[in-house]
Order: sequence, then C-alpha cells, then structure tokens
Amino acid sequence: MARTPLIAGNWKMYKTEREAEEYIQALLPRVSAVDGVDVALCVPFTDLRAMVDSARGSRVEIYAQNMHHEPEGPYTGEISAPMLTELDVRGVVLGHSERRAMFGETDKALALKVPAALEAGMVPILCVGETEEERDSGETDRKLRQQVRDDLAGVSLERLADVVIAYEPIWAIGTGRVASPEQAQESIAFIRALVGDRERQAAESVRVLYGGSVKPDNAAELLALPDVDGALVGGASLQADSFAAIVASAPR
Ligand code: PGA
Repeated sequence: MARTPLIAGNWKMYKTEREAEEYIQALLPRVSAVDGVDVALCVPFTDLRAMVDSARGSRVEIYAQNMHHEPEGPYTGEISAPMLTELDVRGVVLGHSERRAMFGETDKALALKVPAALEAGMVPILCVGETEEERDSGETDRKLRQQVRDDLAGVSLERLADVVIAYEPIWAIGTGRVASPEQAQESIAFIRALVGDRERQAAESVRVLYGGSVKPDNAAELLALPDVDGALVGGASLQADSFAAIVASAPR
C-alpha cells in the first residue's frame, strides 16, 4: 500500500507570531508546486491561529506540540483537543523526548492523549526513541517495544493506522549526529513490525517518520529508505528555505 510521505517541522519554542507570519509567507511559494507529500508545521500555541489562517488553502497543515487528554478541567496551563480543533489545528506532537525528559510526560499520560487526539479528529505524531546509553547497551528494541506498547495501549485496532509514529533517537536530536540509514531503517521497520503484532494490516498503512538532525543534505537518503515515511524536522525547519528543501527531497 502506498503511504503518502509526511514532512513535519517541529518548531519547538521558537518564533513569535510576527516571526511565524514572515516564515509562512516565505514558505508557501516554495512548497506550492510540491505534490504527493503531506506537509505540517508543529508550532507554539500562540502561533496557531495566525498560522492556520495564513496556511488555509495551501498544502501546509498546522499542528500543535502538546495537548491535555481531557476536553476541559482544572488544569492550569494546559490546552485541550477541542481548543485546538476549533482553530482547525489538524494534529499534535505527543511524547516528544524533550517533554518526556524535561516536563514529566509519562507513558501513562500518552496512553490517554493519543486516543483523545484521534477522537477529536486530529493526527497524533507519537515520538519514541532510545537514549545513547540504551543503544550502546543493546536496549533499543526493548525501549521501542515498551513505548509503542504503552503509549498506543488506548488506541483501538481500527484507529491504529491513523497514528503517525516518529522514531527519534534521543542522541540524534539537536546534535547534528543523524542516525545512519541502516540504523533508521532497522528501527523503523522494527516499529512497523510492532504495530503489525497488534494489527497486521495497520502495519502496511501506518506512517513511521524519522527524526533527529534531518537536514537538506541528508534528507533524501533517509527519505528513500523503504520503511521511512517522512521526517520530523527540528532545527532545519526553522528556516523556510531549508524546510522547503527537505520537503522537495521526499520521494513521491
Ligand atoms: P532536530 O530535532 O531536527 O533539531 O534534531 C528533531 C526533533 O526534536 O523533533
């Protein structure tokens, strides 16, 4: 089954609304001719409304970077799925390693957030990945198995293929140390097989992205790998030029 590649930019805590506006005006003409690739920008909450308005009618979809699982409640500082969908936000990054490491995001919370995003009609991009220590001690598969099992535990078999999974080895995030094509292919094929253990057909259609130091000069090689269905791009998504170059290198 053909899977449409997804190139998603993860801005993290970068860009005020004004900076975001300048960026999207520079990006849109650079990606308007691209066909057969889904393009998403995962932006800070304060940029969402302006970005959705500016990207309307283009091929760029706007995603958030986090979400609470409850639709509303006494959760100071949190944002819910209905708050996002009312703005036409199409998806949300969940379980990024920065949120896990610095903000106490747990697998238990993710088991609630991923199905909540799906039920609200958003595409969840679930991030998984091992530390350098885990890779060096041969623990990569164990870590990926545990995260995929626990974080997707609340997703029904019918919805499994609607989740996007981003394989992001933590040692490759923001370090310039990209995974080798062999490492990326092997771990992503393993993640696909884990999905297949739960639902054979979902493995064929679920999209699994690679993330971690994706740049214009290494994107084509990674994106050509048989199991890699796109990229989650941090630093290189912050300039419209480099992000557009990565979008252009997706096979279609
Ligand atoms: P990076 O970040 O591309 O800057 O390594 C990737 C990510 O954190 O999603």
